[in-house]
Amino acid sequence: MIFRNGRKRRWSYCQIEHESSAEMEKMVEINGKTRVCGLIGYPVEHTLSPVIHNTLAGLLGHDLVYVPFPVEPGRVEDAVNGADALQLLGLNVTVPYKSEVLDFLSEIDTLARNIGAVNTLVRVKTGYKGYNTDMEGLYRAMVSERIQIEKERIILLGAGGAARAVAHLCALKGADTIYMLNRTYDKAERVAEEVNGVAGRQVVVPMLLEEYTRIPEGRYLAVQGTSVGLAPHNDRAVISDPAFYEKVHTGFDLIYNPWETRFMQLVKAGGGRACNGLKMLLYQGIIAYELWNDVHVKERDAQIVYERLEEQFRKS
Ligand code: ATR
Repeated sequence: MIFRNGRKRRWSYCQIEHESSAEMEKMVEINGKTRVCGLIGYPVEHTLSPVIHNTLAGLLGHDLVYVPFPVEPGRVEDAVNGADALQLLGLNVTVPYKSEVLDFLSEIDTLARNIGAVNTLVRVKTGYKGYNTDMEGLYRAMVSERIQIEKERIILLGAGGAARAVAHLCALKGADTIYMLNRTYDKAERVAEEVNGVAGRQVVVPMLLEEYTRIPEGRYLAVQGTSVGLAPHNDRAVISDPAFYEKVHTGFDLIYNPWETRFMQLVKAGGGRACNGLKMLLYQGIIAYELWNDVHVKERDAQIVYERLEEQFRKS
């Protein structure tokens, strides 16, 4: 018996006829035809991705399992070739291999190439094709939170791998201006040049973090893309001046652990709305699942997976 949503229910290997998708979910019985997807990264023990993919497989009735695989430094090429030999349907790629893995792929999607990082591999005839679903995942998370990018003036904190993808997304979706604030100016400048080049307009304005007081008056969407505030450093925020947060109408932190970051608390204290990064994790996973299985995941199923993720997160 499994207890879920306060109800007691028997889960069986055969489909249970009920009114909602959650109740149509089935457990995957591993057999000779079960397809395997997984995650490569180091470390991978704390990943929530198995919750996303194994729940989706159950909801959609797919004969598929998803397993995390720790890959030690220097073994990425072996891992990709091994996965190909074992005919793994697809892989997610996480820290620290999102860029390193590019060298071992047979094809790379244009968007992923522009970003310079992949998080999803799909098995093709000649090996694996790499995609980046983080960006589209963030976009779908923002749509789901009713956050608009088009014509918005945006403050983006950070210029690392994650922030770079956010800059590409916001430029592509028609942001008015993106003030990219980073501790290391050169990195922000490089990302700005790259994104402005792709966008064909001067949309990203690189700035040093401490120059935040120079941002013009107004109310902004702020995206927190640095690693500052990640557990166990829950009390840290990259900018802690309350005056800065008065300029923020909505704050989106890419971090979801802790559930409410210091950045989010400061946004709320300044009168803004704040979201964490769990929905981005959800949708990047959903898009990967869609690529592997050539399906479209419905919003009601996405919602069920989100609830399951939240439940799992709170337990961990
Ligand atoms: P990710 O792939 O998760 O984006 P990353 O590429 O290492 O990780 O980027 C981390 C980001 O957090 C960078 O913008 C980094 O700033 P620098 O480019 O100056 O290194 C930022 N960051 C990390 N620690 C920071 C700190 N203590 N103060 C300010 N910014 C910090």
